[in-house]
Amino acid sequence: MNSRQQLIKSFRDQARYADYLGSPFTAALMNRAAASLEQGGPIAALLGDWPGDPFADGLPLRFAGALHALVLTGADPGLAALYPPHAADIDTVWQAVEAAMSARPEHFADYLARAPQTNEVRRSALLLPGFVAIARATGLKLRLLEIGASAGLNQLWDHYRYRYADKGWGDPASPVTLECEWRGAPFDLGGPVRVASRVACDRAPIDIADPAQRVHLRAYIWPDQSDRLARLDAALAMTLAARVRVEPADAADWVEARLAEPSDDVVTVLYHSVVWQYLGEPTKARIRANLDDHGRCRPLAWLALEFARPDYDLTLTLWRGDGNKTRKILARTHPHGAWLEWLDQGLTGATGS
Ligand SMILES: C[S@@+](CC[C@H](N)C(=O)[O-])C[C@H]1O[C@@H](n2cnc3c(N)ncnc32)[C@H](O)[C@@H]1O
Repeated sequence: MNSRQQLIKSFRDQARYADYLGSPFTAALMNRAAASLEQGGPIAALLGDWPGDPFADGLPLRFAGALHALVLTGADPGLAALYPPHAADIDTVWQAVEAAMSARPEHFADYLARAPQTNEVRRSALLLPGFVAIARATGLKLRLLEIGASAGLNQLWDHYRYRYADKGWGDPASPVTLECEWRGAPFDLGGPVRVASRVACDRAPIDIADPAQRVHLRAYIWPDQSDRLARLDAALAMTLAARVRVEPADAADWVEARLAEPSDDVVTVLYHSVVWQYLGEPTKARIRANLDDHGRCRPLAWLALEFARPDYDLTLTLWRGDGNKTRKILARTHPHGAWLEWLDQGLTGATGS
């Protein structure tokens, strides 16, 4: 496959993925971009010969983000008048897209040069039952360590309100409410979870105090997913007010340093969502070795929400601090938190035994 064919395929693949994840507008936009690439339209000159793997590099997302930023900031009112919630046909939208590409080459060059970075707050609704399971199994306060935290929106998970159809959890007055469909086995979420401390790192944290960085974060939300945008905005406001800090650091170095710190009367919880796939093998191996080392003599939990084709698994590994280690897939989940399928009916007893 030559590089042009690879480019076209990346847009077609992105279209299928956007469709699966509930963004028909993005799917149509990506397919329209692919058609234009096939015809050698202006987008072909804009994207040129991409040196790497365009899908793995998120090139279609970079392009979509550049366009959405023009809409969100009001920089291109013509495009905004056609974008969702307006229901213009995709060929009309595409004319405005081509006009934007020709009017603002620097804007597109800027977006195409940066890796898309997102932070999905509804993943907290997928992580929450894992935190509950850890608290219940250990009876200890949680000392939280998050890697790949991006803007830090999943740091405040215990301050959000959750609705899983008939059951709720958290403060009903929270400005952030996360709704998630609960499928599969029942699980009693119980009351509050005690948190001893929380810290986070990211290789490239997003500074949400910087308005330009907030625009980037918002631009990668798909334009017809206004509910996601509203959740993001509410979580941004809360996270900003709480002065959550995400330390700039590589995950392996940071985990090693944090685990070396004293931690009495707590269970240390390493958690991450949609991060593991970006780490190199040496980084993963170092983190695993450090966890095993720490877990040999202290209570430790590793809660991972990570890719497991075609969806994402929530996996819990628990070290009792007495040489005993267990690993369970707790749930299969939708990558943006629309649903979770709880797998382990006997979890309370099983993890506690
Ligand atoms: C897809 S985002 C997920 C962000 C967030 N966890 C969420 O669920 O919304 C992946 C994050 O991992 C971070 N990351 C990738 N490699 C890393 C590394 N070696 N050390 C720390 N963070 C890393 C990226 O900067 C990015 O913010």
